Amino acid sequence: MDAHELALDPASTQALAARDLRLGLVDSADRDQLAAWHEADSRGFHDRRPEQQSTDELREHSAGRRITGVWDDAIPESEVPVATVSSWVAGLSVPGGSLDAWAISSVTVAPTHRRRGVARALLEGELRTAAAAGVPVAALTVSEATIYSRYGFGAATWAADFTLDTRRAGWVSTIEPSGRLAFVSLQTAEQTCRDVFTRAWAATPGDMVIDDLHWGSLTGVYGDRDKRSASLRAVRYDDADGIPQGVVVYRLKENHADFTKHTVEVEYLRAATDEAYAALWRYLIELDLVSTLHHGVASPDEAVLWMIRDLRAATVTPYDHHWLRILDVPTALQARRYAAPLDITFRIDDPLGFTDGTFRLLVGTDGSGRVERTDASPDLSMAAPALASLYLGGVRTATLARAGRVVELVPGAVARWDAAFASAQTPWLSYWY
Ligand SMILES: CC(C)(COP(=O)(O)OP(=O)(O)OC[C@H]1O[C@@H](n2cnc3c(N)ncnc32)[C@H](O)[C@@H]1OP(=O)(O)O)[C@@H](O)C(=O)NCCC(=O)NCCS
Repeated sequence: MDAHELALDPASTQALAARDLRLGLVDSADRDQLAAWHEADSRGFHDRRPEQQSTDELREHSAGRRITGVWDDAIPESEVPVATVSSWVAGLSVPGGSLDAWAISSVTVAPTHRRRGVARALLEGELRTAAAAGVPVAALTVSEATIYSRYGFGAATWAADFTLDTRRAGWVSTIEPSGRLAFVSLQTAEQTCRDVFTRAWAATPGDMVIDDLHWGSLTGVYGDRDKRSASLRAVRYDDADGIPQGVVVYRLKENHADFTKHTVEVEYLRAATDEAYAALWRYLIELDLVSTLHHGVASPDEAVLWMIRDLRAATVTPYDHHWLRILDVPTALQARRYAAPLDITFRIDDPLGFTDGTFRLLVGTDGSGRVERTDASPDLSMAAPALASLYLGGVRTATLARAGRVVELVPGAVARWDAAFASAQTPWLSYWY
């Protein structure tokens, strides 16, 4: 589905008009309009002013993206919007399946117009537009963990800031890769990343299909706002049959005081096989002149920790990463598979109305689920953000129950839910968007 074809939300348009603000869609074919929007988006995140080349790349590589702005016609230079948001539809991997998600990005409100309800109007409008278009889940990555639960989002995957003392780590894995490593150009790396991602993402709940713009930026092919691609290197792993099975894009950060203590900064690493994964990590850990490896968006559960001798060579700092918002409970819950049979009735409290009510989830022995609304009394009750956090199996219901975010109304319901919702793979989103 092309999100950019969908009309503006009337309620948000009215709410903003009541504040003398104008909600509108940006025609990305209009170079000046897109440049002004891009300026506002960058300013909102305290980024440098975008160059024309960067705006041209945004236009060329963001087909299907719905680009929205809010304008205040009373201010000088009013062509630059005072708020921005963009959205598109992308596949989201869930345990045993996938579904369409409404990806939301570029949420900014100019500091001159903050705390007047502009973000609320934009976010609620995004959710209503997505729901009306039949998209069952909305998703975003966040600058602050305090902003989005009021709209029903919950943290569903974690990522990790991963630092490794490579001299101390000690490679002890028994995996013996039979393929080979080779440097490739960033253009080739981009293509390999896409191929490998296509094969690997379905096994990683919470990961979302990466659009052209983000691939270009991750691999340094375009979106080169800070000229960082000049320092990027890419190494590919091909298996014994010559099939590319993994790639890492990285750069070296020099330590000028000691040239034997550079840092290797992982920009993107993806492998479709365990051999490729082991070969790429070993390559990074054993690089000459490097003493530190840093990966800012590692999985919170990297297998590499079990491939080294000294676990304490690694410092792993998890952080909430992919935030989800369930918009359609039956469609979302029926899109995933479950680890155990289940018959459970649960109440969702959703002040925005999308999922408010009581539902029954019935999981058969084949792991597939069926969901319907019911008037029966619930076994569990929770608010919309808790359902989003539990959806991928990355958060334990027992933990949310201990925190008071899930209320167990029938003894044993929490344990039954946990057994069914458990995910075989740790959920993870491999990039920021
Ligand atoms: C975060 C941001 C978009 C909020 O915009 P805003 O128009 O000031 O927000 P609103 O006035 O609509 O506020 C809506 C609600 O969110 C709350 N809120 C707004 N910003 C918040 C923040 N940074 N942290 C916690 N709560 C926040 C408000 O208090 C208000 O709460 P309430 O309606 O429940 O009483 C804006 O401050 C901004 O652009 N920040 C910098 C860029 C950024 O971080 N964007 C988010 C990217 S994920």
